[in-house]
Amino acid sequence: MAEIIDGKAISAQIKEECKAKVEKEKLNRCLAVVLVGDDPASAVYVGNKKKACEFCGVKSVSHELPASTTEEELLKLVDDLNRDDSVDGILVQLPLPVHIDEDKVIKAISPDKDVDGFHPENVGRLSIGQPGYLSCTPAGIIQLLKRSNVDMDGKNCVVIGRSNIVGKPMALLMLRENATVTVCHSHTKDLKEVCKRADILIVAIGKPKMIDASYVKDGAVVIDVGIHRMENGKLCGDVDFDSVEPVASKITPVPGGVGPMTIAMLMHNVVYGNGADKAMPYVVI
Ligand code: GUN
Repeated sequence: MAEIIDGKAISAQIKEECKAKVEKEKLNRCLAVVLVGDDPASAVYVGNKKKACEFCGVKSVSHELPASTTEEELLKLVDDLNRDDSVDGILVQLPLPVHIDEDKVIKAISPDKDVDGFHPENVGRLSIGQPGYLSCTPAGIIQLLKRSNVDMDGKNCVVIGRSNIVGKPMALLMLRENATVTVCHSHTKDLKEVCKRADILIVAIGKPKMIDASYVKDGAVVIDVGIHRMENGKLCGDVDFDSVEPVASKITPVPGGVGPMTIAMLMHNVVYGNGADKAMPYVVI
């Protein structure tokens, strides 16, 4: 029987810490949120981000633009927000409509306001161990592990998935915690055998319930980044929870595991800044 890592509770704790810091230090933080088009999932995410800002006492300014917005218009808005001293953080919700080059937009955001941690400068800083904004989902996973007393030092950590937003920064963060890190992906040979060696298994493949107990060592800690809606309307992750839970020592559920951490860490980034001088406890810079 695994201990359930409660992402809902830990994210609530982090948001409380952000709110307390805003109140204590009378901070006037402002997040600019940019949504282009009418993707329903993005609209829900953006709504949740605005709610979290309200909870923490952070001002949010919303820019909701039509799907017909040109790349030039969006780059102009980003430039205006970069120059606006009242704006501390800029979040452009992804995905963008296909006629807009996402990389170009991410690069246009000032690295000092890049609260998503997607700008190449912040990714570069992470890779050479300098303070900078961290991508929210992997930073949230580090928080889940630390606040659940999972020691990462010297442990075998296997990350499945190599996306720029989760897999790659996750591997770098685990390395920063002194884990021995293996990154697996669709071309990995003997995936099962590699996963079986993991003390900490982080799954971000995007395939519903792909990882069952046959991939998991007895007593491993299993972190599930996936979220999928099944035919019966229920949510599931990349991990087959019912199969893995009996063999793992700790596991994140879906929903209520990694998901809520992304917004909590966004709030952390907006309130605490880029970690150069005032990281919160537990955040290793
Ligand atoms: N789309 C899905 N996840 C994210 C995220 O963390 N940040 C942004 N900007 N867009 C997303």
